[in-house]
Amino acid sequence: MKKTPIDYNIVTEKLQESGLKSVGKSSIREIKKLVDEIENATDEKFIRMEMGVPGLPPAQAGVEGQIEALKRGVAAIYPDIMGIKPLKKEISRFVKKFMNVDVSPDGCIPTVGSMQGGFAAFLMLSRMHKGRDTTLFIDPGFPVHKMQHKVLNLKFESFDVYNYRGEKLREKLEAYFKTGKIHSVIYSNPNNPSWICFNETELKIIGELATKYDIVIMEDLAYFGMDFRQDYSKPGEPPYQPSVANYTDNYILFISSSKAFSYAGERIGMMVISNNLYNGHFENLANYYANDQFGYSLVFGTIYPLSSGTSHSAQYGLLAMLKAANNGDFNFVESVKEYGKKAKIMKKIFLENGFQIVYHTDIDQPIADGFYFTFSYPGFDAEELLNKLVYYGISAISLLITGSERSEGIRACTSLIQMNQMEDLEKRLKQFAMDYPVK
Ligand SMILES: Cc1ncc(COP(=O)(O)O)c(C=O)c1O
Repeated sequence: MKKTPIDYNIVTEKLQESGLKSVGKSSIREIKKLVDEIENATDEKFIRMEMGVPGLPPAQAGVEGQIEALKRGVAAIYPDIMGIKPLKKEISRFVKKFMNVDVSPDGCIPTVGSMQGGFAAFLMLSRMHKGRDTTLFIDPGFPVHKMQHKVLNLKFESFDVYNYRGEKLREKLEAYFKTGKIHSVIYSNPNNPSWICFNETELKIIGELATKYDIVIMEDLAYFGMDFRQDYSKPGEPPYQPSVANYTDNYILFISSSKAFSYAGERIGMMVISNNLYNGHFENLANYYANDQFGYSLVFGTIYPLSSGTSHSAQYGLLAMLKAANNGDFNFVESVKEYGKKAKIMKKIFLENGFQIVYHTDIDQPIADGFYFTFSYPGFDAEELLNKLVYYGISAISLLITGSERSEGIRACTSLIQMNQMEDLEKRLKQFAMDYPVK
């Protein structure tokens, strides 16, 4: 019998009971369920790094704004499907204050989480041009966006950006764009799962090519302002959250409130559509919608049948948070810096025990400390490593489900681990390194 930090026999038994062939090949939710069961059976706490959930309390301004709205009775009333007017104005103001980007309130649409924004955008973009039927994913990426494509029966292609950073990105993107079948591109920045952040040169390349080939860029800013190497927290002052919006007028931004405002439970996000795209007319849309205007079809032909807008009270919650942030009364970046502090400590512990960071630089700079990081261990692929780590009370997911080509890579999320668990992490990784010495 092996002596591992979590009882070897119980882990093996729970694994068998779960019916999972391999932890390394399981989905995030399957891993969560398995770890819940092992924790219950052993009374030991895992270092849980599998799920990307906020680990902080919700922004107070939002909770108060939402409660007040509920007390006023908004729950009884359908909200406008394009979003309530004051919120649309405040989103537009937020984008100006924190990105220095000008977008009309018309194109600022609250959605049922960023998730719905993506779903609605994919539907629209795939119908914009006759003969152009493919989305390009700059991977690694958020697996649910691909799941949405599969559900909608939409085509996509993808490449791992690991070997195409900086100027190399131009040729790679252009090769896809020249095929004539790409209608749009999606990536997240900072990136889930790798936490790479595109620099201005890369954003400029993406923007210039989008304009040249008339391709829409979907920039997923789920981790808005969370590249803590820079201070993006001051409204109306540089530096601003970097964005492709500075380099093309053909874009949709998805700004989630889930992580930046710890508001995941209320399922409210923002879709911000450039003026040019919102007001644009596209002949092919008339085959599907009453109108060929992009913004009109999005609101009245897509958001309407999907959900008739999003929760009325959550819109007031978001309004209150944005107002406080825009007015400089609420430093939302400061309140999520905890993730960066934890990442720094965790990465140090991993590195000291023979592990390596997989996506380790933004070209010439070490990767930022934030919500996620990626790691590997010499001699193991991701599946083998995850299968072993579960006996050491550590759970995470493989990068393979994110479109990464780094088969050795694992994603670690920093949100759920508590500062007082760092000692446990260190002890467990030390034992792992002793049990599997690097040859
Ligand atoms: C890259 C990325 N996009 C979108 C989302 C979903 O955001 P929301 O909770 O606003 O739907 C997430 C959540 O984890 C994410 O990581």
